[in-house]
Amino acid sequence: MEDVPETKFATKHDLSSGGRAIAFEALDAPTQALTRRKTGLEEFDRALGGGIVPGSAILMGGEPGIGKSTLLLQAAAAIARAGNDAVYVSGEEATGQVRMRARRLGLADAPIRLAAATSVRDILTSLAEGAPPALLVIDSIQTMHSDMIEGAPGTVSQVRASAFELIRYAKENGVALVLVGHVTKDGNIAGPRVLEHMVDVVMSFEGERSHQYRILRALKNRFGAVEEIGVFAMEGHGLAEVSNPSMLFLSGREEPLAGSAVFPALEGTRPVLVEIQALIVRLQSGATPRRAVVGWDNGRLAMLLAVLESRCGLNFSSAEVYLNVAGGYRLADPAADLAVAAALVSALADRALPLHSIWFGEVSLSGEVRPVSHTGLRLKEAVKLGFSAATGPAEASQDTEGLTYSGLKGLPALVDRVMA
Ligand code: TYD
Ligand code: MG
Repeated sequence: MEDVPETKFATKHDLSSGGRAIAFEALDAPTQALTRRKTGLEEFDRALGGGIVPGSAILMGGEPGIGKSTLLLQAAAAIARAGNDAVYVSGEEATGQVRMRARRLGLADAPIRLAAATSVRDILTSLAEGAPPALLVIDSIQTMHSDMIEGAPGTVSQVRASAFELIRYAKENGVALVLVGHVTKDGNIAGPRVLEHMVDVVMSFEGERSHQYRILRALKNRFGAVEEIGVFAMEGHGLAEVSNPSMLFLSGREEPLAGSAVFPALEGTRPVLVEIQALIVRLQSGATPRRAVVGWDNGRLAMLLAVLESRCGLNFSSAEVYLNVAGGYRLADPAADLAVAAALVSALADRALPLHSIWFGEVSLSGEVRPVSHTGLRLKEAVKLGFSAATGPAEASQDTEGLTYSGLKGLPALVDRVMA
């Protein structure tokens, strides 16, 4: 599929033959209302924007071992137990292995139709025999093989061709299709990326394998917003839903610690309090100092360090800087800037920030602290979890009962505050 020959255009534009007329429609013409089917796994439905849409194709990406198969087996079981037909095709594991996992998850009695197969033709031929299922899980697309084209499973052309056939089947039969796609740390394996434009929904299942928490996030959704996340905890008997995640990513500190700052992040409509940890190590020699980040953007850290150096006169140039977001959480909210800056300054000065304080605000290149969205939501959640002080943009000052708010105009004021 990828080596398409160069297209030759006729010099003369001839429309005299072929071509059927297509009917154009008004944008506001009546349409069938979108139906969504709840799986019953609430966090899964939430991340999908309210449930799965029949006839839609979902790509479920994630690193190997993060829990994709576990999540989808649980979702399939929930659908099957609600009386809908769910088919789970594993191309990676034998049915015995899947059955063993199901037993461990307490789902052995769920009426799922299970198969181990990798031939798309075999799968579609078998499915054509009865009524189409409500849900079809293909685990994983990288193991599938289409005989429409040449090539080994896992190659870009095979992945694309297999997905194309499965998606066409799903659309024609109103089946909700989930394609599992393994993604490596840098997210750039040949497989899933090339499918993103073919599917309706792209989900990413994230987390650190060494941590318990997993976040299900929609990166693209043709049927809904992409702001809500699903939160799960990987436990001995599968993924448990976490319906109130606001304090998962606090490390449970009891004493103030230099280099630690709490940030009230926002995931969709849910606030999540996250601890940010910074460590600064002074180097004696002239070696190039390391900067290492887990859970935040590398470039953003470089920018903040540059702003702290040029606007506040701090010196990080001969120091190694390590930044970590607790609990395996990945921060994307730009409002985290001020909390990261606070953690850095606190680490550099070796002075702890007050234990029950939170920090938020976007930092500009000039060192200003800029206002962010949903200040009220962030503050309310902080109060609920026992925080009593908040520092943020000067403009955002909000009266929240039980909380002292102080506004900062810029990073120099932050440095004064931490050093005071
Ligand atoms: P899996 O769903 O196989 O990951 P993926 O399909 O993304 O490759 O799950 C991988 C890990 O999850 C496995 O290493 C062990 C862990 N796990 C549990 O901790 N508890 C459980 O109940 C299950 C089924 C798995
Ligand atoms: Mg798997």
